[in-house]
Amino acid sequence: MRKKLVAGNWKMNGAREGNAALLAALLGGLDGCHCEIAVCPPFPYLSQVASLLADSGIALGAQTLSEHAVGAYTGEVSGAMLVEFGCRYVLVGHSERRALFAEGDAQIAAKFASAQAVGLMPVLCLGETLAQRECGETFSVVAAQLAAVLDRVGVKALASAVVAYEPVWAIGTGLTATPGQAQEVHAAIRSQVAALDCDVASGLRILYGGSVKAQNAAELFGQADIDGGLIGGAALVAEDFLAICRAAN
Ligand code: PGA
Repeated sequence: MRKKLVAGNWKMNGAREGNAALLAALLGGLDGCHCEIAVCPPFPYLSQVASLLADSGIALGAQTLSEHAVGAYTGEVSGAMLVEFGCRYVLVGHSERRALFAEGDAQIAAKFASAQAVGLMPVLCLGETLAQRECGETFSVVAAQLAAVLDRVGVKALASAVVAYEPVWAIGTGLTATPGQAQEVHAAIRSQVAALDCDVASGLRILYGGSVKAQNAAELFGQADIDGGLIGGAALVAEDFLAICRAAN
């Protein structure tokens, strides 16, 4: 049985005071949430969030990491640094990193490997653009993104990772994939992994992301291959995020 995971991606949002208020509201509202929960604040707030979450049931994640371990890489943050600040998860290959910061499949695969090298659990984000969906390329695009990582790290590495299917056209747009549209991509991801290793595939958590809200979460999370969510906008409002966590029960 895969335990559902709901992860909040704060993106470039937050400020010390607001973070403290958001986390206090989350920590005070966990009754009735039975899924695993994580939050991914911007780098400068990892220390603040780590101390506010200490000994709580909420895990800490980061939004990206360097593919390099150490050295002259101005502005970069290594996986080992994230571990020192208490991170358990790190997003890898989010579509905003792919589109706005030109991260390609090879770099994303290298980041995935660097995360695992220090014991972080990568959350590998996959997803097609609207143009790709309209051309009927959804399955081939997602399969190629996943294959780039599998080729580099091997299928067993997915036993210590999470995948997130996030159609780019659904991120921050208010458009959500229907539960059926999401489920068919999730099922395809799982069968691509199952073709290499059935046990890894059946244990793999595949999250859905893209305009998940309290109102649509339960139906999405009720699909056979959807094991939780990666939440952007709604992760910034405590009641909304908690309602999504409860929908994962
Ligand atoms: P959204 O973002 O929930 O605001 O659509 C999801 C994500 O980018 O992970």
